[in-house]
Parts: sequence; structure tokens; C-alpha cells
Amino acid sequence: MRQSLVAGNWKLNGSLSSISELVSGIREQLSSVKNAELAVCPPYIYLSHVQTLLDGSGISLGAQDCSDQENGAYTGEVAAAMVKEFACKYVIIGHSERRHIYGDTNEKVATKFAHVVKNRLTPILCVGETLQEREDGHTEVVISKQINAVLDLFGIEAFKNAVIAYEPVWAIGTGKVASPTQAQEVHEEIRLTLDAQNKDIAANMRILYGGSMKPENAKELLQQPDIDGGLIGGAALKAEDFIGIALAAN
Ligand code: 13P
Repeated sequence: MRQSLVAGNWKLNGSLSSISELVSGIREQLSSVKNAELAVCPPYIYLSHVQTLLDGSGISLGAQDCSDQENGAYTGEVAAAMVKEFACKYVIIGHSERRHIYGDTNEKVATKFAHVVKNRLTPILCVGETLQEREDGHTEVVISKQINAVLDLFGIEAFKNAVIAYEPVWAIGTGKVASPTQAQEVHEEIRLTLDAQNKDIAANMRILYGGSMKPENAKELLQQPDIDGGLIGGAALKAEDFIGIALAAN
């Protein structure tokens, strides 16, 4: 039985005061969430602040990325081992904004994935196609390349405690959401790719949907057999919406 995970990716948003307000809003409504696991992924600089705010709440903490290097002369980078020191459980890797704006290649994402696993953190590996790729019928190829980049280098065992997030690039921050059928098709395909290598790992893998998930559309998406939660952007910045999605995952 896979426990649903609803993770908020706060991206480049928040301040000390707005984050305090957001976390206290989430905590106030938390008792209604019975079954889903919740996680929040603030910008690195706020990890320590949020770690304190989450104390005793049962909500997990995550980082939005990490370096593909362990340490050394890499100005501006943050290593997986550093993130680990702030009680993070999750690290988002390969988000489409990292891939498309900051040039993270499949190979770089795979290296980051390995650092996350080596530090006993759980990677949330993001995969997804652009609108052009979907229209050209390349969705499956693009996503298997993104997954195979990790599989080929580190093998199926590296996925043992991982989470995968399917985030169609055309649905991120656009208000356009994949239909439950479109999302289920891709989620099923991802599970089958893993199943070909290891049935247990595939069966236990939590595959999240991300891309304009809101309380209004969450239920239908989360009812699909291979959708095990959500990676939430905009709606994770409002306590009521974030909790609304978590309730749909209950
Ligand atoms: P939105 O929910 O704002 O579309 O963002 C999704 C996302 O990118 C989560 O990582």
C-alpha cells in the first residue's frame, strides 16, 4: 500500500514572515489530514527556519535541488550532505525549471540523484515533456530517457526509496492541467518501465503528479490508480489550498 505524498514546492517564493504565516496556517488545519504524508520544500536559505516551524508537526522537509558536486570551489552551490544537516527528508531533482532555465541535463540530474541517495535522502525525480514534445508524440520517449539516465548509471536499486514526479512542462504554472486520463497513462508507463527491472520497487514507487494541481481538480487526479500524490507549486503557497489537496489525497 503506497502512502500518498503531497509535497509543496515553494520555488523562489516567501520571506521569513510569510513563511511563518504559511506554516502556521497549515498546522492549524493539519488534524483533518489523516492518511497523506505532507512535505514542504522551501528555498535553501529558509530550511533552518522551516525546520524549527515544523517541529513536532509530522510534516516532512525537503530541498528544491542540490549540487552535482560534493564540496569544493563551486560558488553558489549547496551539497546534498548540507541539506541533510537541516533534517531534510526529500530533495527535488530535475525539476523542469532546473532543466530548462538552468540547463540541468539528464546526466547532471542523474549525478545529483546519486548524491541524494548516497546521503540517505529521498530524491523526488521530476520528469515531463514540453508541449511540443507531446504534440510530436514524443512524451514516452522523453520520459524514458529521463528515467533511463538514472537507471543506466546507477541501476534500479537506486530507486528503492525514491519518488518520481510526473510534471508535464505545459501544465506547470499555466493553469492547464493534464486530464486524469492523460496523467494516468504516463504514470502507468513510468511504473511499467520500473516493473521491467524490479516488480517490488515498481509496485512501491510513489509517482506524484505536478502541474496546476488545485483543490478543485485534485480528487479526480488522485483517484487514478497510479497517481500517488502531488507536487504542488502555486497552490502550496496558500495553507487552505495545500490542505485542500491533502484532503483529496486522504
Ligand atoms: P504549479 O502547481 O504552480 O503548476 O507548479 C507545479 C510544479 O512545478 C511543482 O513542482
